[in-house]
Amino acid sequence: MKKILFLIALAFSAPAIAQEDPYMGIIPAPVSVKKTKGVFHFTPETIILVDSPDNKSVRIFKGLLRQAGYSNTVTDINTVDRKRWDMKNSIMLAQNFKGDLPAEGYELEVAETKVQLNGRGSGYFYGLQTLLQLMHKTTNPGYATIPCALIHDNPRFSYRGMHLDVSRHFFDVDFIKRYIDLMAAYKLNFFHWHLTDDQGWRIEIKKYPKLTEVGSKRAQTLVGKIKGGDADVYDNTPYGGFYTQDQILDIVTYASERFITIVPEIEMPGHCRAMVAAYPEWSCDPTQTYKVAETWGEFKDVLCPNEETFKALKDILREVMLLFPGKYIHVGGDECPKDAWKKSEFCRQLIVDSTLRDENGLQSYFIRTIERFVNSQGRSLIGWDEIMEGGLAPNASVMSWRGEAGGIAAAQLGHDVIMTPGSGGLYFDHAQSRSKEEPLSIGGYAPLAKTYAYDPVPAALNKEQQKHVLGVQANLWTEYIATNAKAEYMLLPRMLALSEIAWTPKANKDYKNFSEQRVAKHLPKLEAAGFNYRVPEPVGASDTLANGDKFKIELTPLVEGAKIYFTIDGYQPRETDLLYTGPATLNIPKDKTIEFKTIVITPSGKRSIVNDIQMSNK
Ligand code: ACM
Repeated sequence: MKKILFLIALAFSAPAIAQEDPYMGIIPAPVSVKKTKGVFHFTPETIILVDSPDNKSVRIFKGLLRQAGYSNTVTDINTVDRKRWDMKNSIMLAQNFKGDLPAEGYELEVAETKVQLNGRGSGYFYGLQTLLQLMHKTTNPGYATIPCALIHDNPRFSYRGMHLDVSRHFFDVDFIKRYIDLMAAYKLNFFHWHLTDDQGWRIEIKKYPKLTEVGSKRAQTLVGKIKGGDADVYDNTPYGGFYTQDQILDIVTYASERFITIVPEIEMPGHCRAMVAAYPEWSCDPTQTYKVAETWGEFKDVLCPNEETFKALKDILREVMLLFPGKYIHVGGDECPKDAWKKSEFCRQLIVDSTLRDENGLQSYFIRTIERFVNSQGRSLIGWDEIMEGGLAPNASVMSWRGEAGGIAAAQLGHDVIMTPGSGGLYFDHAQSRSKEEPLSIGGYAPLAKTYAYDPVPAALNKEQQKHVLGVQANLWTEYIATNAKAEYMLLPRMLALSEIAWTPKANKDYKNFSEQRVAKHLPKLEAAGFNYRVPEPVGASDTLANGDKFKIELTPLVEGAKIYFTIDGYQPRETDLLYTGPATLNIPKDKTIEFKTIVITPSGKRSIVNDIQMSNK
């Protein structure tokens, strides 16, 4: 057998001196960080002084400190005789700061002898998150160092959103709270809760109990990827779940204490199979029996725009608004097939009577009717970009998901917009690499770098129109996400990139610094907190085909302390293979292809998927 010749030349040059991280490990990168000399030594004796001890942010901070293994007490400054104290080795967290700060902003000064945080409301809360990120544990339990610096910070966008679909798969209260904790740690402030869809209605509505009695349960679920043929296989296992109103109130309070507003989504007029399974009279053909959907996609069984349905929707939304105090009520509006309306005599007549052009006009009529009601209750309607079909309701805000066109058009019309395009790497149900080892996903390709590169303000908008872009959101649809561990895998680390595009000034964005110097430090901490993040492939290994006769391989793991093992023989790499220790050059023999495969193994033994680069000299 002819042996393929190759040569690995290990470079002997000293590793490049690591650049200092200008953002000191903080995610999202702050507006301004001025490093100063030295560190503050945090010890069990460090006094934490606050000017409002009952403030909920102080309570949450105390809890987070305990979780991280610090047991310092928190003292009300008003009970301390300041003249007798030199305040050395103290951290002063001032909520009642008198100076000027931008909206949601804070300033944090770390000196060798003391730390001072100034902020109000959410700004104060975010300052505490930054402080926690700056505390680096020493080997001595209860001790930490905090590098000296002066930080000024405030967000780029007022809307920094993360979405979760709980219809396709249900996630319990504990998971929702962990999700909210994660969002808060990364300064996100809107949780878009996708509560209803074809596959399950997940919110208790007292006036219409069948919504949960019938609509929250499906008989079975599709196994594996949707194929659309007769060969589809189902798991023959009933699936269900919903949140009681008490649970929802508890979650709303939990979120608001962390400065997160929940945007509840009640889908209409499409994605309503669970709803018409419970109440067929709200469809255009009540003689039919409808089943809660067991597979994915768009369904033709939509709501009928008649009086009875609108009355029910208003009753439902009244209960929803009692639970969710936030400004926005999300009514979905996406992917509504018009078949049932085309077949309906009632709808045809309504189009004529209301001088609508067609069924798109009916979609607009539907959303406008609901908007009038939502506005009459003092709230604002928001929907996916399809709510523009047939004409946008007068005060509606638009979530642009099918690219940016809907968002651009809405902003040009003077409507507020949240950017969340799948094409911009903001659909976290898309795969994170092209490797066949990625878990089953809906498809698409949204690696960390792509999410990070997204800029929510389209160049097509002028300065005035740009002001309508209130922010950005990423979406986690859960057709193929049935477990907490997989939800976390799809969320992390991409949510860290989302946080930076939502918060950090554009001029401060730097992917190399973000991924290599900051994400790498955050992932072990997330792991210690029990989150199942995706171990990224090393920098320098891309999952694309490369052509040539020589390849310089220079790899950096994106998890601090992780090891990279590799093979060039096509076999799966593991701990028994070659350990990457420094840059190497791979010579590819003429007319041959070499498969360069890597695996990253973190200090705690967590493994990445195998990254595979085909290097071809043909
Ligand atoms: C959506 O992804 N259908 C909004």
